[in-house]
Amino acid sequence: MPAQWLIGNWKMNGSMDSNAALLTEIRQVSGSAKMAVAVPHPYLSQARDALSGSEVQVSAQNLSAFEKGAYTGEVSALMLCEFGVKLALVGHSERRHLFGESDEVVAAKTIAALNARLTPVVCVGETLTEREAGNAKEVVLRQLNAVIDGIGAERLSRCILAYEPVWAIGTGKTASPEQAQEVHGWLREIAVQSGAAGVSILYGGSVKANNAAEMFAQPDVNGGLIGGASLDANEFIAIYQALC
Ligand code: G3H
Repeated sequence: MPAQWLIGNWKMNGSMDSNAALLTEIRQVSGSAKMAVAVPHPYLSQARDALSGSEVQVSAQNLSAFEKGAYTGEVSALMLCEFGVKLALVGHSERRHLFGESDEVVAAKTIAALNARLTPVVCVGETLTEREAGNAKEVVLRQLNAVIDGIGAERLSRCILAYEPVWAIGTGKTASPEQAQEVHGWLREIAVQSGAAGVSILYGGSVKANNAAEMFAQPDVNGGLIGGASLDANEFIAIYQALC
């Protein structure tokens, strides 16, 4: 059975004060599902310390594809490990679309994460134009296969996958549970063919407490990658409770 995960992605939000309040609340959660928060790099040590002794893990939102060297502004996987980081998002649509990360770069970052024993949370998803053109399947499978080609099928089971339709991110317009399940089914099929049937596949895109339960009831939806709603402790905990 795939592990159930709820991962909050704070994106470029937070301050020392607001983080402290949020982390104090979420460190108290307990339940059958795993939880992590992906915080901006400067707050990694704050999150590590505030979550120490709790079940909640710390994730990075991004990492470098390179191990070390003259790469100004980059943060390596091994540096993240020094701050207690256990997971790293790779290929989030904001990285792909706002910062031009190609499938090849996403694959290289996934390799870097795995080599450092971090769990990569590999994000895939189509734009509205791609969906309306009937290309959603082609796009998400191309994105996933690029990662599998890079890491080797045998390492897919060490990843978490996240389906995030670009048109549903931060728009308040979530995919229907049926739309999400259809895509998750395609991803599961590739995972099965790769010998990674038990990989967790999360859904992300305007998940809130009032729509989480029906999304998580889908057979191949193993949790959520939550953006805006992860900044509100009550909302995030309510989403977690819908998963457990
Ligand atoms: O990483 C999280 C996703 O981009 C979803 O963001 O919940 O604000 O739509 P959202």
